Amino acid sequence: MLAPRSDLNLEFRTAMRRLAATVSVVSTFCGERRYGITVTSVTSLSIDPSSLVVCINRNTSVHGPIVSSQRFCISMLRENQSAVARTFSGGHNGAERFTSGDWLDGPMCVPYLRDAQANIFCCVEGSMPYASHTVFIGRVIDVRFREQIRPLLYCDGAYTALPAPARSGEQT
Ligand SMILES: Cc1cc2nc3c(=O)[nH]c(=O)nc-3n(C[C@H](O)[C@H](O)[C@H](O)COP(=O)(O)O)c2cc1C
Repeated sequence: MLAPRSDLNLEFRTAMRRLAATVSVVSTFCGERRYGITVTSVTSLSIDPSSLVVCINRNTSVHGPIVSSQRFCISMLRENQSAVARTFSGGHNGAERFTSGDWLDGPMCVPYLRDAQANIFCCVEGSMPYASHTVFIGRVIDVRFREQIRPLLYCDGAYTALPAPARSGEQT
């Protein structure tokens, strides 16, 4: 049944709590400083050219630096990296955040989390403002990934992980 109009925002929030998403940190380098925040709004856009989308609130500390530098890295977090996600979504700020985890300088000095699930380096190819956010289109310029797939997920307001893979011969 459709929700009454006055409840739409609340109902939308409640529905979105049911959307499990991989947690990433989007990072950039601008004016000799590192910036980064936790995001779940990363979506693959196209394979050829390799591109993705990330939606970033204009009030966040990383927004202006991405607009200026025109580059960013998506570090997809592993299931044991919820502390990194918490650090980059509040509490600490600026360069202090980058003491959580092992951060290195990648192409164009953009910082990336060394033992993340994957790192995707992008140049900004396009952007579209929408309400409080900007939708950034990133053209992929380099990729790193780990073989083992154990992403950190965010669902129903909490960090979680995929169930452990069944061992061969085990019934599911
Ligand atoms: C799990 C999770 C996912 C988030 N996803 C996004 C996102 O996709 N885009 C966004 O702009 N903020 C997102 N945020 C909020 C930012 O991480 C948060 O506002 C952060 O504090 C902004 O950094 P700042 O304080 O340096 O501006 C998310 C937060 C959490 C905890």
